Amino acid sequence: MRRVAHVSDLHVLSPLGAEWRRALFNKRITGYANVLLRRGRVFRPHYLAKVLDRAAELADHVVVTGDITNLALESEYAEARRLFDRVARTTELTVAPGNHDIYLPEIGHERHFEQHFAPFLHSDLPDLAVEVPAGHFPCVKLRGPLALISLSSAVPRPPFVSSGILGRAQRQALLRVLDHPEVKRRTPWILVHHDPLDGASRLEQLRSGLVDAAALRGVLSRLPRGVVLFGHLHIRSRRTLDTRAGTLEVIGASGGSLDHEDDRVRAGLNLYTLEDDGSLAQAEAWVVNPTTLELERQPLNWSEP
Ligand SMILES: [Fe+2]
Repeated sequence: MRRVAHVSDLHVLSPLGAEWRRALFNKRITGYANVLLRRGRVFRPHYLAKVLDRAAELADHVVVTGDITNLALESEYAEARRLFDRVARTTELTVAPGNHDIYLPEIGHERHFEQHFAPFLHSDLPDLAVEVPAGHFPCVKLRGPLALISLSSAVPRPPFVSSGILGRAQRQALLRVLDHPEVKRRTPWILVHHDPLDGASRLEQLRSGLVDAAALRGVLSRLPRGVVLFGHLHIRSRRTLDTRAGTLEVIGASGGSLDHEDDRVRAGLNLYTLEDDGSLAQAEAWVVNPTTLELERQPLNWSEP
């Protein structure tokens, strides 16, 4: 494997219809208000189609770090699956769930994420996975020099709360994954929706961050090298995490369909070129030009989100 494309926060919207009217009468009303008042104006499905087509062209593997749907509606899952099947005709795809994909407790119970995206969640180490609301994680794919490890930080949350948590069982499972000989001899690339370097106040973290970010960093501290990819914040960023044994790259992607005047926020993809040992050789951004609708290559500079 030579190149990985990273897209995130697609927020695939359901067409207005019966499902939406039903959604209005339950807790999804806050998500609905978000769509209508803030997000609905800036998420552009035709940007997303361009981004996914380009990702499939440029990369050997496409990874998606969550918030694939907007309200976790059945029709949104179906549309997202249709888009992913197109990508998967030429390129392998791996997904991680976000808070929008597990909107209400029953979404987790009904296993919508796992059912709709099962073809993209075949783990090579299924015995090491634990059950969480979005399905069975960590999902591990051993590909050449890479160990792709998809985590789930998605849990049902009350209205106006978008935080996530991995939980003790999944963090312990991650430890076992990282200790597995087939993972140890590869470079780990970890997918998680929420920012693993979240340094916000405790209150802010409980509202919109990764509640157990510090505990995750504790698990990662044994790694000599590797890459952590995330989304959620809708802005491209590139930082490092020093561990006891080396340094990890921590890279955030923007929203896959988002329109915005700022190039760091507008829809696009991150493209990573790999060294022979699976470590990161080069990272660049491909960003939608709102006039031509083509994706243009830009540097993915070191920056805070
Ligand atoms: Fe999110």
